[in-house]
Amino acid sequence: MAATVQAVRGMNDIFSPSIEQWSALESTIRKVVALYGYQEIRTPIVEDTGLFKRSIGEVTDIVEKEMYTFTDLGGDSLSLRPEGTASCVRAGLQHGLLYNQIQRWWYMGPMFRHERPQKGRYRQFHQFGIEAVGMGAAEIDVEVILLSARLWQMLGIEDAVQLQINSLGTPESRKIHREQLIDYLKEHEAELDEDSKRRLTTNPLRILDSKNPALKEIIAAAPKVVDFLDDASKAHFEQVQSLLKAMNISFTVNPCLVRGLDYYTHTVFEWVTEHLGAQATVCAGGRYDGLVSQLGGQATPAVGFALGLERLLLLLEKWECDIAIREPKVYVIGIGEGASSASFALAETLRERLIGVRVLQDCVGGNPKKQFKRADKNGADIVLVLGDEEIKNNVVTVKYLREDKAQNQVTVDDLIALLQSYFK
Ligand code: HAM
Repeated sequence: MAATVQAVRGMNDIFSPSIEQWSALESTIRKVVALYGYQEIRTPIVEDTGLFKRSIGEVTDIVEKEMYTFTDLGGDSLSLRPEGTASCVRAGLQHGLLYNQIQRWWYMGPMFRHERPQKGRYRQFHQFGIEAVGMGAAEIDVEVILLSARLWQMLGIEDAVQLQINSLGTPESRKIHREQLIDYLKEHEAELDEDSKRRLTTNPLRILDSKNPALKEIIAAAPKVVDFLDDASKAHFEQVQSLLKAMNISFTVNPCLVRGLDYYTHTVFEWVTEHLGAQATVCAGGRYDGLVSQLGGQATPAVGFALGLERLLLLLEKWECDIAIREPKVYVIGIGEGASSASFALAETLRERLIGVRVLQDCVGGNPKKQFKRADKNGADIVLVLGDEEIKNNVVTVKYLREDKAQNQVTVDDLIALLQSYFK
């Protein structure tokens, strides 16, 4: 036998029964974005590599070592998208959707990062994200956070996640902080790990985000960006906090929260959980007021977040939140010659007239016992039997699989009424 082909490491197939959780989560997401008036945007999965370099930053983990980059047959360097923000801004600029305009966008789909796969971390993963472009006030930072909080509430996991926020200020205040941070870290260079030593000159801010316990004390005493904010940034951050308090959203200010992408300014936030081990961040985002101009547009403020669907589903599982919508099912069985066309006719009539009930037809036929077994395996609640007798008398036999209820024979019209009231 020929060797079987496996999926690429870190890339998953998704099928029943977990696909039911996926679908339910996706439909809850569609409901929440509709509540806030966000509109869907779909961008290509592949973009020019330069887009990600210019937006996420040349010296970030994502761009340095995690992108799926290849040269296409025309000689262009392309990359599978590692995230969605850069593509949204690119699309907005390309189609003239940003200049003096406000956009509230959402997207959902696969992203790609060549990370070391483990539970909650994959090479192809799925994000739901929103991007609110064209608004600079603290109110929209809070709206974006409220939208995520409403999603937790709709999913029943509001107690499983905690909000952390920070402000990264402006590029100017970051520059002053950066110099002082480098000076401070140089004093402790001998104690730093290899990764942090490498980042010392390239991206020292990220050292603050290190999870290495050996660096805990050094990081705790390091200069923090939030202490370097100018007056306007401070006022913005205070307004975000006071609105969150007014809306009863609990949060902690984490001065070490710096995010792994370079485009952030002012507010940054993460929803973290204690239930997913190392992959603790379920949802993350913030403001990126410099990105639109960095990519060639007019200066335009923007804020957004993205969450990992896989992580959210793992959390739902841990939290024992079964959100799958299991529609009732009826299963049509045909016994004997001539039962096939009668079964088709019955199944199609039911599909036309019954809303919210799934109608499965046994398309294998043969041994009735085996047909019943398949009905059970498919999760049917009710089996409808069409045999010679039933066809002759224009009736259907109704058998209940999940209840101790006697079978009965009814006409098709009575059957519709019966099923409608049964599955009400
Ligand atoms: P990010 O922090 O890189 O931000 O990713 C957001 C979320 O995507 C993470 O919190 C996590 O839940 C999920 N995620 C990231 N990498 C993986 C992975 N390898 N496997 C599974 N899940 C993963 C962004 O992507 C920004 N674009 C967010 C944003 C939007 N900021 C402003 N607007």
